Amino acid sequence: MENKKRILTGIRPTGALHLGHYVGALHNWIQLQDEYECYFLIADYQALSDHFHDTDLIKQSVIDVTLDWLAVGLDPDKSNFVIQSYVPEHAELSMLLSFITPLGMLERNPTLKGELDSLPIEQRSAGFFNYPISQIADILLPRAHLVPVGEDQAPHLEMSREIARKFNRMYGEVFPEPETLIGKVGRLSGIDGKGKMSKSQGNVILLSDSKDDVAKKVRGMYTDPNRIRANIPGKVEGNPVFQYLDAFTENDPNVQDFKERYRKGNIGDVEIKNYLSDILNEFLEPIRNKRNYYEKNFNIVEESLDKGISNARKVADKTMTLVREKMKISTYKNIW
Ligand code: TRP
Repeated sequence: MENKKRILTGIRPTGALHLGHYVGALHNWIQLQDEYECYFLIADYQALSDHFHDTDLIKQSVIDVTLDWLAVGLDPDKSNFVIQSYVPEHAELSMLLSFITPLGMLERNPTLKGELDSLPIEQRSAGFFNYPISQIADILLPRAHLVPVGEDQAPHLEMSREIARKFNRMYGEVFPEPETLIGKVGRLSGIDGKGKMSKSQGNVILLSDSKDDVAKKVRGMYTDPNRIRANIPGKVEGNPVFQYLDAFTENDPNVQDFKERYRKGNIGDVEIKNYLSDILNEFLEPIRNKRNYYEKNFNIVEESLDKGISNARKVADKTMTLVREKMKISTYKNIW
């Protein structure tokens, strides 16, 4: 146990999780649980960065994310589920690290820049500008060695390494330099074919969607817009219907057959979409059932969070004792 390397990764609770989360992150996290000591963080402080005006949504999403995690097979007996605001040392460390983080580092961060540009002016808060520092604190607080994240988070990880190095150099060795773990993860476009699946785009299939909702969403999915009739040859590449089929089947001869016939204009969209609905519902059915079970047995959900939070607090306490000591704050009792 003790010798396992530590992983921290997180999610902003701003909605229930969808197939994109599964393909891009959860699938990978599930595999990591045996080999590493994992901290899976529900970053509700960070959710305030762009949802400070919708705290009801954050409150509900904390529960939804926990249920989704349990339903897909993240295991609270192996891993720690942590709610950020229950470990307020996150806020303390974030504040302390803000003093050694150069403004320019934030100003140059391309992910932050992009997100700021797409926020309406009245929502661009100081807290939002600072959120990469809060994310660095998330990672450094459990002194994580590895952080599994997608490409878009790479600039934040680069900053984490620089800040860890700077802290260690200035005040003394406390933090390992966290490495990015880019696993074998995929990316799913939205059902509208526009960019990636994302709640803010309204183009998602939720892990908790009902069978009928899935069928309805798949029926309305974007395909090749030039194929206005079933006998017109279509494009398979970049077509979300085939992208999903590839993500949720393996060496399926039917999928091969569909692709060939689609390219030749020998098959209607409806036949392929019905097949995709079935595949997705087959995948989601056990997840829905498990989610239902945990919703009805909420005490298990609570216990999972209690345990994860309690472990995270212990680790946080150790780290912060060291940090305060190295930064020579909270020290009047040790003067003489
Ligand atoms: N910013 C991440 C996202 O939007 C969520 C997150 C918060 C995170 N804290 C983290 C990711 C720490 C990795 C490590 O997906």
